[in-house]
Amino acid sequence: MDQKIYGKGRALRGELTVPGDKSISHRALMLSALTEGETRIRGFLYGADCISTIRCLREMGVSIESREGESGPELLLRGVGLRGLRAPERILDCGNSGTTMRLLSGLLSAQRFDSVLSGDESIRRRPMGRVIRPLTEMGADIFSERGDGRAPLHIHGRALRGISYESPLASAQVKSAILLAGLYAEGESRVIEPGLSRDHSERMLRSLGVPIESRTLFDGRTEIRLRPVERLASFPNPLFIPGDISSAAYFLTAALIVPGSELLLRNVGTNPTRDGILEVYRSMGGDISSERNRIIAGEEVSDLRVRHSKLHGTTISGALIPRLIDELPVIAAAAAAAEGETLIKDAADLRQKESDRISAVAEGLRALGVSVEEREDGMRILGQGEKLSLREAEIDSRGDHRIAMSFAVLGLLEEPGSFLRIHGSDCIRISYPDFFSDFEKIC
Ligand code: S3P
Repeated sequence: MDQKIYGKGRALRGELTVPGDKSISHRALMLSALTEGETRIRGFLYGADCISTIRCLREMGVSIESREGESGPELLLRGVGLRGLRAPERILDCGNSGTTMRLLSGLLSAQRFDSVLSGDESIRRRPMGRVIRPLTEMGADIFSERGDGRAPLHIHGRALRGISYESPLASAQVKSAILLAGLYAEGESRVIEPGLSRDHSERMLRSLGVPIESRTLFDGRTEIRLRPVERLASFPNPLFIPGDISSAAYFLTAALIVPGSELLLRNVGTNPTRDGILEVYRSMGGDISSERNRIIAGEEVSDLRVRHSKLHGTTISGALIPRLIDELPVIAAAAAAAEGETLIKDAADLRQKESDRISAVAEGLRALGVSVEEREDGMRILGQGEKLSLREAEIDSRGDHRIAMSFAVLGLLEEPGSFLRIHGSDCIRISYPDFFSDFEKIC
């Protein structure tokens, strides 16, 4: 499917509640499946990725129903307990979802049955060695069918032992795979990350009574230690999932770059391991205020008010990268509309996402006439501020939801009457099925 975005030349106004957080939705499913009671989940993201997790858990005997709760739609999940998952009869299809595949590989390595994880063409190209290596150290029997460190993955479940793993990457998926396996392992599991990646797993495990500690080491690295448990406590009922800052990012950016705009984005998760985009936009001169700051189900939540601002270029690197990794494509779009140079460094892992996001962003920006230099670990963008004039262009989403949505935002800066065409725009269903209708509402 293609989508045409017209440069409308008018301001964005109004309010929006973005859909639930994708990372938290996956974890809410997997972890409540391992508890012994019922969990009602509110604010769940009905995106294709989270539906992949539902499909896999159902295949292992977990009952998950969508229903109308007293105050809106909710998911009702009946936990089977830590040792209650059933051997799947079919290949577990993770679709496009890296989080499903990597987190489940940790969980499944410790079960008393065998399983196979596979998914779509994109996920079968993505590196799984990053979870295979530490899990194998824990004693897991997990191998890549084609021997290339990619899916399909065959897992022969067995008893594991805790390890101390120094991860070369600040990756929440790797960390969470080890922590999930560690729930069943003998002894303590310890993960050291070069920087702190999103910590939703740690927060949720702690709330389920798992002994887990995190601390920053003297050299800036983060250490997480977890001890196994016999059973998990339950989540608060209902379990609320905040709005996804990675989805809010498109509207934050749109309001910042389109003159005259002002938007209120309600109920956005602002966990400090995820809010790097706010820090970067504010440092670029962006007018974003956080209102009604609160904690919901152990996660920071705010309403974000954003107004059009004159942005200037910046440098984004180091420990900031894991705090905004999924927002880098849309930040690159903002950088094209900012005055001066923006440099993105230390983000080589962007090439391993649903697409090679460094190449996809650079190719799209170039097609629009933006001056961009692609680098191995990022890019350099020469923004033109208010003088920016975009060409009409065709953008290939490469089947990557974040590429499609980032360029949709930039399309708003086409001259009135001109448009940008996004090929394969239906991939937005992965994380934000209503993106284009929400976009219409406020644009
Ligand atoms: C995620 C972690 C990040 C992120 C992905 C979701 C998660 O990946 O890019 O979209 O839910 O744990 P990495 O952990 O591989 O950096």
